[in-house]
Amino acid sequence: MLKLRTSAGRELGIGVREPSLGWSLAEPLSVRGFEVEVADDEQFTRLRGRTRGEGYPTWVAWPGPPLASRERVHWRVRVESDAGWSDWAGAVLEAGLLERSDWSAQFLGADDNGVQVPRLSTAFGLGRPVAKARLYVTALGVHTTSVNGRLVSDDVLAPGWTAYDQRLGYDTYDVGALLRQGDNELSALVGDGWFRGNLVWGERMHRCHYGDRTALLAQLEVDHPDGSRTTIVTGPDGWTASSTDILSADLYHGSSVDQTQPQSALPVRVVEHRAELVARQGPPVRRTEVFPCEPRAGLHDVGQNLTGWVRLRVRAQEGQTLTVRHAEVLLDGELATAPLRAARCTDTWVLREGEHELEPPFTFHGFRYFELLTDAKVLAVESVAVHSDIVRTADFACSDERVNQLHRNVVWGQRGNFLSIPTDCPQRDERLGWTGDAQVFAHTAGLLHDCRGFFADWLADLRHEQLPTGNVPVVVPNVLGPDEAGIGGWSDAAVVIPWEVAVRSGDVAVLRDSVDSMRAWVDFVVAQLQGGLWLGFQLGDWLDPDAPPGAAWQAKADGMMVGNAVFAHSVQLLADTLALLGGPSADYADVARGIRGKAWERWGSEAITTQTGCALFLRFGLVPDADRQRFVDALAELVLGNGGRIGTGFLGTPEVLYALSDGGRLDAAYALLLCEECPSWLYQVAQGATTMWERWDAIRPDGSLNLGGSERNEAGMLSFNHYAYGAVASWLHEVVAGLTVRELPVPEIVVAPRPGGGLTWAEASLDTPRGRAAVRWDTKRVTVDVPAGYAAWLDLDGTRTALPTGRTVVPLTQ
Ligand code: BGC
Repeated sequence: MLKLRTSAGRELGIGVREPSLGWSLAEPLSVRGFEVEVADDEQFTRLRGRTRGEGYPTWVAWPGPPLASRERVHWRVRVESDAGWSDWAGAVLEAGLLERSDWSAQFLGADDNGVQVPRLSTAFGLGRPVAKARLYVTALGVHTTSVNGRLVSDDVLAPGWTAYDQRLGYDTYDVGALLRQGDNELSALVGDGWFRGNLVWGERMHRCHYGDRTALLAQLEVDHPDGSRTTIVTGPDGWTASSTDILSADLYHGSSVDQTQPQSALPVRVVEHRAELVARQGPPVRRTEVFPCEPRAGLHDVGQNLTGWVRLRVRAQEGQTLTVRHAEVLLDGELATAPLRAARCTDTWVLREGEHELEPPFTFHGFRYFELLTDAKVLAVESVAVHSDIVRTADFACSDERVNQLHRNVVWGQRGNFLSIPTDCPQRDERLGWTGDAQVFAHTAGLLHDCRGFFADWLADLRHEQLPTGNVPVVVPNVLGPDEAGIGGWSDAAVVIPWEVAVRSGDVAVLRDSVDSMRAWVDFVVAQLQGGLWLGFQLGDWLDPDAPPGAAWQAKADGMMVGNAVFAHSVQLLADTLALLGGPSADYADVARGIRGKAWERWGSEAITTQTGCALFLRFGLVPDADRQRFVDALAELVLGNGGRIGTGFLGTPEVLYALSDGGRLDAAYALLLCEECPSWLYQVAQGATTMWERWDAIRPDGSLNLGGSERNEAGMLSFNHYAYGAVASWLHEVVAGLTVRELPVPEIVVAPRPGGGLTWAEASLDTPRGRAAVRWDTKRVTVDVPAGYAAWLDLDGTRTALPTGRTVVPLTQ
C-alpha cells in the first residue's frame, strides 16, 4: 500500500549520507500522521533513528546518524489514517564509497592502438564462501563488466556522460550470486564512449576530448561468513589485457567488429585521473523496448523514430559481412543521411562461421529506418530502444487521435534524448547537452517522467561547468569551450531547471544545492545591465518558422527583447527560491521588476506584433494589468489571422498556448493546437512524424527536406528528434485535461479543464510523490481523483471550490 522513495534515487551504493525519505499511498486515505524508523537490522531492534509527525509531508529528513561508506540500513514507514495505523512498509539503503580514500583501485588501461576496444581481466581465487559481494565500477570511457563471464547488469553505456575532468560517476552492483568459492574471473570491455570518442560537429569534431587512454576502475569487495573480506581491485598487478574483435566503436560513427581477427595480448598500464568519484543518482541507460522487424536483409521501417540500435541473429559462413546503416527519414525511397551530417551511423561486422546474436557495441543511433546489407542468413531482426531508464509518471488521452499521436511523439522525443544527459538530438554529429533545449522542455519532462535523479546528476555537472564569473555554458558537459556561454534562455537553465525539479518533486534540497549557482548566473548578467537591460548577443527565439533556414537566430521577435523577458523570469524564480528557502529575496524581486519595467518601456509596442513577444510578455509578467487583455486579443488575432499556424521558435513555443488560455482565448488556443497547416504541431503529425522535429517544416509541404544549410554552415541542421517543441504536452495535461499539480510552496492540485476544439473527452493522470491524481471529463461529467495530502481545487468556470481527497464526480449540465 505504501511505496517508498528516497532522495538518493537508488537503493545500492548511494552517495548521500543523509537522504530524505518519502512514500506514496496507493489508496487516497485521509492521513493523520506517520512514523519512520531507520535501523541497522531487518528486525528493527538496533534502531538508528525514528521520526513521528502529523500530516503527510512530501519528504522527511534523515532521522539518525549519517551513513558511512558501505553502511547498509533498513528503513520503514507506517501511516495513521481514519482506518487506524497501516502495516509497516520497508526498504533498504546502502551507502557507496563516500571517500576517495575508500578506493584502493587504480584506473587501468591497455596499450591499445587508440581506437580499439580492449578486454581487461583478472583471475582470482576465493578460499571461503561468499556472504556478500559488491562491485564498485566505472571507466574512463564506457564499460561492460562481467564476473565469471556473466554481465554484472543490463546497464549499457555506463557510467554515462559527466564532466569527466571533474566528476566521474560510478555504479554499485550486487555480484554475490555470480561469484563462487574457488576460481573466479573479473573482466571488462572498455569502449571510447564520450571520453575518447568523437564529440562536436563539423570541423570542430574531435576525438579524445577528455583523454587518449580509456581505463577501468573496479573494486570488488567480497565479504565472507567469518567476517573477513577479500578485495580485488584494478591495478598494475594480476591483470591482463587483450585486443578484442571490436576494432572501433564510436557514438557518432557506429561500431566495427571483425570476428575473424586473431586476438593478441596487450600491455596494461595504470592511468592517472583525479576526477571526483560520485555515486550516480539518475537511472542507468538501459534497453527499454524492443520493436520486432522482419527477419530479412534490405530496407526496414521500424514504425517509430527511436534511439538505440538493431539487434540481429544470423547464420554465417566464415568471412561473410554485415552492415547496418541508419536514418530518421527516407528520401526517394532511400535512407536520407544528409541530416546526420558527418556522423556515419553505420555498424559493420565480419563474421565467423556459425550462428551469432549481434548488437553493435558502445554506440547508439537515432533512427526509424535502417538498411541491412549482408550475405549471411538473417534469422531474426529487432530494433531496441535505449535511454536512461526514467520512470513514466503521466498519461494523457483525448477524443482527437491526432493530438494523442502528438503526445506520443513528445514522449518519444524525451525517451530518445534523455540518454545519460538531456541531449538536443540523438542522431547527427552533435548529441550535446544544450542547456536551452533542456530548459524549455524541463516542465514537460518532469511531468511525463520522474526526472529528479536524472536532472540532479546533470545539474551537478552544470554547477561544475559554470565559469568562475557565474556565466553558464550553452552545453553541459561543456565541450565547446568557455566562450560559448551567457545566452538568454540557454544559460537560464541554471535557474529554471532546479526550480522545475523542486516544484515537481517537493524536494527543497535541489534548490539548496543549486541556489549559489542560480544566484551566480543572475548576478553575472545583472552586472552587465546597461540602462537596466541586458544588451548582449542572443540566440533568441531560435528556429522561428520564418527565420532564414541557415540563420536560426534571426527570428521575428527581437533577440534582445526575448532574452530580457526570459531573464526577468529567471530573476523572479531566484527571488521565489530565496523566499522558499527562508532568506531575503526582496532585492532580486526588485531587480526582476526593474527589468520587466524597462523591457516594457523599450519593447512593449514591438512585443505585441509577434506571437512570441505577446506570449513571453504576458507569461513573464511584463505587461501591466491594464494592457493584458489588449495583448491577449492581439495574440489571438496573430494566431487566427495566420490560419492557426504557429509563429514561435524555441523560447516562445512553451508559453504561447498558456498565454492564450490564461487570457480566456480558448478559441485561438485550440485553433493553434489543432491546425494542420505548416507550420504547426499537427502538421508534423499529418506528415507521419513519430517524434518531435527540430524545424516546424523539417519536411516541407512539397516533400523536400529543410536541411537548413547556409553559406556559413553548409551541412545545415535538421533533426527529426528534438524535444523543444514538445513543451506543448504540459498544456495538454494542465489545460485540455485540466490537471495541474505542484508540491511547492505547498502541495496543491488544481483541476481546471478547459474543453474546446470540438474535443468530446480528455483525461490525464499523474503519479505525484504521494499517489495518483487523475482527471477525466466528457460531455456529461468530470471525474477527479485526488491523492492524500493535497489542498485540491476544482475550477470549471474561473471560480474555485475545494475538492476532497478521493474520487469526486461532478455532473455537467448542458
Ligand atoms: C542545437 C540546438 C541548440 C542550438 C543553439 C543546435 O545546433 O541542435 O538544439 O539549442 O544549436 O545554438
